Amino acid sequence: MRPRLTRRLAGFGTSVFTEITRLANEAQAVNLGQGFPDFDGPAFVKEAAVAAIGAGHGQYARMAGILPLTRALSAKYRRDYAMDWNPDTEITITSGATEALWAAIGALCDVGDEVVLFEPFYDSYRAAVHAAGATPRAVTIRAPGQLAPGWAFDPDQLRRAISDRTRLILLNSPHNPTGKVFTRAELQLIADLAIEHDLVVVSDEVYEHLVYEGAHVPISTLPGMRERTVTISSLGKTFSLTGWKIGWVCAPPDLSVAVRAAHQFITFATATPLQWGAVAAVEAGPAYYAELLAQYRARRHRLASGLEAAGFDVYWPEGTYFIAAGFSRFGFDDDLQFVRHLIATRGVAVIPPSGFYLNPEHGRTWVRFAFCKRNETLDAALELLQQA
Ligand SMILES: Cc1ncc(COP(=O)(O)O)c(C=O)c1O
Repeated sequence: MRPRLTRRLAGFGTSVFTEITRLANEAQAVNLGQGFPDFDGPAFVKEAAVAAIGAGHGQYARMAGILPLTRALSAKYRRDYAMDWNPDTEITITSGATEALWAAIGALCDVGDEVVLFEPFYDSYRAAVHAAGATPRAVTIRAPGQLAPGWAFDPDQLRRAISDRTRLILLNSPHNPTGKVFTRAELQLIADLAIEHDLVVVSDEVYEHLVYEGAHVPISTLPGMRERTVTISSLGKTFSLTGWKIGWVCAPPDLSVAVRAAHQFITFATATPLQWGAVAAVEAGPAYYAELLAQYRARRHRLASGLEAAGFDVYWPEGTYFIAAGFSRFGFDDDLQFVRHLIATRGVAVIPPSGFYLNPEHGRTWVRFAFCKRNETLDAALELLQQA
């Protein structure tokens, strides 16, 4: 029989998350793998969605998102970053950041184009680039100590990755899985190259409110970048509601038209009552963000210091809810083997990152822990890891 799956999507198999979750369940391991909270989102957001269901908001929403939500987002961007996005023409609600990425990449790349991305990357990037018929070109973010004290890339590698076929640069800051927050200087370099080569930057900012060191700078706030940036974010991480899959795109009108051209045929519109719930979330003020950050800062400290005590080389994250940790002291030189060993012998599941690189050899020496978990979960994992 002929293979049924297209060449564009063949080779991606099941995601590493599915595989690790299966192994973790079989071993009944404590799961610090997949990046979703094991606690619930805020009551005021859930109540707003329940009220919307009760009030009969059960039909298709406006294709680009309900206006109360795009208006609330417009106010949020003005408050948080002094940015002005038109709620009618420049903000689009999608089914999570994942759909936004797929729509943006699909809408902005032709077959044969090239996309520059930073490895390690969130795994949907590569699939979306391939599905668009484009080719990914990687710039490697090197582990602390290789190029700089923190995670860093080589500017020359970025320059070399750009060709006359390049259409997009995919950026993710705060960065999953390393926890790196790109500095203003790094963003400026990316912006300078985007302007010089007339590229669009697709900027995935889903961890924008989880920054412990430095500050989150949306690249579209840099001079000359508003007109060439597609800014993507979502509700999932900031409001601990990953299952709602409410995301959004902020982009100037021509890029918004492009993203909507794809979005209208992928999902057309996003779950209506959940968009109403999202209005309540997005209207939450700075006090909500401060409380969220304080809780995550405490979890980060708990897990990072516990992992150090267990013998890991911990790279304390500047942002996100992930910790990258080297395992040189455990006698393994392969991330996948080490993760299988951890699950089988310690009962703790984490993510091997080599699959998040175009060249897996660049990511064999460390693993990713998620700390979007209750203290009990973190402590249970640490107790197992610290056993001699
Ligand atoms: C960098 C990054 N982008 C996007 C997403 C997905 O966001 P959403 O759940 O809103 O689709 C994730 C989820 O882990 C992520 O880590």
